[in-house]
Amino acid sequence: MSTIMKHTGHPSAEEQLRQRADVIRLQLTQGVSKPFKKIIDICSGDIHSVGMKPLTFVRQVVLAGCLCPNLLASDALPHDARQRAQKLLENCDGGSVGAYAESSGMAYVQRTVAKFISTRDDVPSNTAHIFITSGSIRAITVVLKLLAQGGAVSQTGVLIPVPFPYTLPRVLESVGSVPLPYLLREEAEWRIEMEVLHRALLSYKGHYWPRAIYISNPGNPTGHVQSRESIQEVIQFAAQENLFLLVDEVYQDTVFGVGCEFVSYKKVLAEMGPPYSHTVQLASVHSLSNGIMGECGLRAGYMELVNVDESVMLFAEALLCGDISTAITGQIALKVMADPPKPGDPSHCLYKQEVEYRQNTLKHNMYRTAEFFNTLPGFHCPPVQSGVFIYPRLTFSPKALTHAQGLGLEAGLWYCGRLLEEEGVRVGVSECVDEAGSHKSSWHLRLCVLMPPDALEEVLYCLQAFHCRILKEF
Ligand SMILES: Cc1ncc(COP(=O)(O)O)c(C=O)c1O
Repeated sequence: MSTIMKHTGHPSAEEQLRQRADVIRLQLTQGVSKPFKKIIDICSGDIHSVGMKPLTFVRQVVLAGCLCPNLLASDALPHDARQRAQKLLENCDGGSVGAYAESSGMAYVQRTVAKFISTRDDVPSNTAHIFITSGSIRAITVVLKLLAQGGAVSQTGVLIPVPFPYTLPRVLESVGSVPLPYLLREEAEWRIEMEVLHRALLSYKGHYWPRAIYISNPGNPTGHVQSRESIQEVIQFAAQENLFLLVDEVYQDTVFGVGCEFVSYKKVLAEMGPPYSHTVQLASVHSLSNGIMGECGLRAGYMELVNVDESVMLFAEALLCGDISTAITGQIALKVMADPPKPGDPSHCLYKQEVEYRQNTLKHNMYRTAEFFNTLPGFHCPPVQSGVFIYPRLTFSPKALTHAQGLGLEAGLWYCGRLLEEEGVRVGVSECVDEAGSHKSSWHLRLCVLMPPDALEEVLYCLQAFHCRILKEF
């Protein structure tokens, strides 16, 4: 498995598609003729970019009320949005969102996040252990930097799932950590198989210093939701192998699979009791960007550190000092995410309606898209339990494989590259591998489906037309 993460010196298929999309975008602005008017980018999970509207209350409090305090004297905004904005401004230095805040976040926001976690898990959360960051990727980077201290940096290894969130290898690379892949198998419905995990770790020992295990739950891009039992097994594994648990829980509010439920690692760890609850080191990250809120551009998230030494937390703070502070607008939005309008508040009804619309749209679009792919020859798409991505598998005909090979391209890149050139649709792509790291001649596409249903239909129409052309040709 270790072979698949080696740098080949070539940009990955994802990176090549991104670069090409940028060129096409520029060409479109220069008036170059294309078979489409704009690029539809559905690989990144940025739901606002594909037409989802922001939640009204977030914008009323964050952007209208706090950025333009004059509005607080009028009744242009609902009473509770004005009250919230007022209170938030009182917690900003000088009463302005233009002021700096503490490196690890506004204390007011940290307290709200701690309360959100305590209520979610029914386990106390300590405000001093909450760090507000400019997104979860920044939080993950800080944790990785902490882990890289005190060891030979180049040898610090992090167990990561395959498939992984597409941004993860770049993050590891940026801090000099070595990705140590463990395979998730579609045949096993993407759950973590402990024997696979043990085998993977054994193969890396002696070569690297496995320091941490990264978990994405609910899984990106697989959409798998871990059961309590599975989480317990991973915690036991981390304890036994002395691994730091780095848990990415950014899709926690997007679980829709029947019988599935999001349970946090922190909760399970606390429930397991000593020695685990007092010893296993854990960082849990969450963010505004993913899931229902989808405010990627406001750039805020948090991490909670559990069982981490005080001196290490001071060091985390020192690392965050480099950012001066996370943008206040993002922190305010995070506060709203952690403490949305309550029943009885003037804005509650609309907020609830908007959130439910998104949840229903997500569920509807997932079923619709899975059904769609399962009718296309060559595709296979099992049901998804959570997240905003659908992850169908595509197997090519021998003729198509030979054709791509003749062009010197991986078949997945060839297919997605043509989709981009001919329809202006950018999707994510990765090759299927087995436990030994060997390629299996089939690919997974990654598509964000949380978008207005008519926009989704437009995308599916393009995909169908394109796939039929390919089928005819090959
Ligand atoms: C695994 C994973 N976590 C989190 C994020 C969101 O990052 P951020 O919160 O920094 O926007 C992404 C975005 O691509 C991701 O792939």
